[in-house]
Amino acid sequence: MTTIRQPSGARATALLGLGTYRPERVVTNEEICEVLDSSDEWIQSRSGIRSRRYAGEDETLVDMATAAARRALEAAGVTADQLGTVIVATSSHAQHTPAAAPLVADRLGSRAAAFDMGAGCAGWCHAVSVASDLVRGGNASYALVIGVEKLSLFLDPTDRSTAFIFADGAGAVVVGPADEPGIGPVAWGSDGSQSHVITQEPGCQHVTPDHPMVVRMEGTAVFRWAPFAMADVARSAVEGAGLALTDLDAFIPHQANMRITETLARNLKLPEGIAIARDVQESGNTSAASVPLAIETMVRNGEAQPGDTALLIAFGAGLSYASQVVRLPPVATA
Ligand SMILES: CC(C)(COP(=O)(O)OP(=O)(O)OC[C@H]1O[C@@H](n2cnc3c(N)ncnc32)[C@H](O)[C@@H]1OP(=O)(O)O)[C@@H](O)C(=O)NCCC(=O)NCCS
Repeated sequence: MTTIRQPSGARATALLGLGTYRPERVVTNEEICEVLDSSDEWIQSRSGIRSRRYAGEDETLVDMATAAARRALEAAGVTADQLGTVIVATSSHAQHTPAAAPLVADRLGSRAAAFDMGAGCAGWCHAVSVASDLVRGGNASYALVIGVEKLSLFLDPTDRSTAFIFADGAGAVVVGPADEPGIGPVAWGSDGSQSHVITQEPGCQHVTPDHPMVVRMEGTAVFRWAPFAMADVARSAVEGAGLALTDLDAFIPHQANMRITETLARNLKLPEGIAIARDVQESGNTSAASVPLAIETMVRNGEAQPGDTALLIAFGAGLSYASQVVRLPPVATA
């Protein structure tokens, strides 16, 4: 009988460097309300969002992902030819074929294995865990993980549940070998019985010029689920890392909306003094890009530092969710 050799890789992995890209165009609540039947006051009180950014018409998802990736590689001190894998987490790449990741890898000058990952707003946290296991398993020396969205392409500007929430941007991180563990075990899962709560409609086969594909969401159902179910998931991630909540320096949840973040922090019984990400105020909900964008904002504002211990959690369409404790990497601040 033949023996198949299986590789084994790094003893420990960490986030080695993070970079982001925010489109230039700032879209205020006032601008949203030129079309949407709502008000700046209502949007701020229900979601915390004051403004968000939209990509330009000619600015593609691949452009944004590549810009964030270049900054992440620079922050990590890793070159494109060292990458073994490029993963793009997104749910707004406008084509199923080709996937975005090989296009991004090519722009970077890399011939690494490259594929997209769809887990809604939780995609980047899923991909970080997969990348860490690839490096630990020996199938990649370094992996690049990008969360990127151009959700402005898929918004119905008259939809009161979604038009003011979603936005565009990109965040990337290099995962690689480390002397000390910098990425805890993932606590993740899904509940497909609630898949109808966040969808893109109509399905591809029914899209017509009169019925473009847009994001739909039952906002109240998301609100009833996330701040409660996700508290248990976040606790599991902390326990899995062998830590207690008091060991954390920062709590960086998916920037869904401010009320979800505040309620989740309360349900988690987060001790006083732990910095909480509130990037949703200026970035809106950028889905798979929201956690790396929030990390960059916290480091730029001095609310968190590279080397800090941070609890990440992301959740959304699927419903899918993933959470892990990480050591924050060097960040290329924009
Ligand atoms: C979307 C969300 C802000 C809507 O808030 P809500 O309180 O659930 O809103 P409801 O649909 O129950 O409507 C409550 C009232 O606000 C009004 N309303 C709803 N949307 C409105 C809007 N955009 N602007 C102004 N008023 C609005 C309704 O007409 C209703 O008025 P009434 O009480 O006079 O009948 C809220 O459900 C939410 O934050 N959900 C989570 C969404 C999210 O973060 N998703 C991220 C997915 S990862």
